[in-house]
Amino acid sequence: TSDVVVDRLAELRVVPVAVVHEVAHAEPLAQALVAGGLPCVEVTMRTKHAERVLARMAETSSLLVGAGTVVRPEQVDRVVAAGARFVVTPGFSPSVVAVCREAGVPVIPGVATATEIVMALDAGLDVVKFFPAEAAGGLKALSALSDPFASIRFIPTGGVDLQNIDSYLGHRAVLAVGGTWITAPALLAAGDFAAVEQRTREAALRVAS
Ligand code: 3PG
Repeated sequence: TSDVVVDRLAELRVVPVAVVHEVAHAEPLAQALVAGGLPCVEVTMRTKHAERVLARMAETSSLLVGAGTVVRPEQVDRVVAAGARFVVTPGFSPSVVAVCREAGVPVIPGVATATEIVMALDAGLDVVKFFPAEAAGGLKALSALSDPFASIRFIPTGGVDLQNIDSYLGHRAVLAVGGTWITAPALLAAGDFAAVEQRTREAALRVAS
């Protein structure tokens, strides 16, 4: 897929995943990610105010904002209306993928098996989220799954952090990694956006090195 969103994720190489409970956190979080050097985010649709958080973050023009935890087709129009420029799902849903296609929004489905990768191929997709990366076997599983599918690029997410990011980023089939460690729930709960910015900077440095 040659797609501006996918190209940008491939360039940034780390997708911060944010589980945000407070609408008031949207703006300082957006600023911290931009200031730290990773201007993109997957806002998970699993908190009460997730759509409002996404909409608020999408107002930051330099930030590429996507919606995560999209599990039902009826969510797609709502997140796109809120400003999502890409959609991420934890598992492969043919109906979510179809609706994203109709809406013209890039979709990155979650896969953890060869069967799900074949479903992604059937749908004409070549970028998938490998989820839950560590629990599903980590780099060893990713490597084995990638062998038969030379055209597929993965975004491993789930248990990725500074300890293992280098090994994932070093794999040829890895487009980018995702994870919540940068926007850790404890940091958000404490309103510690300086720490979020610091973690963003640390992750961006790993990409650069
Ligand atoms: C997700 O929604 O993608 C996961 O919750 C991210 O997993 P992590 O919290 O282990 O980074």
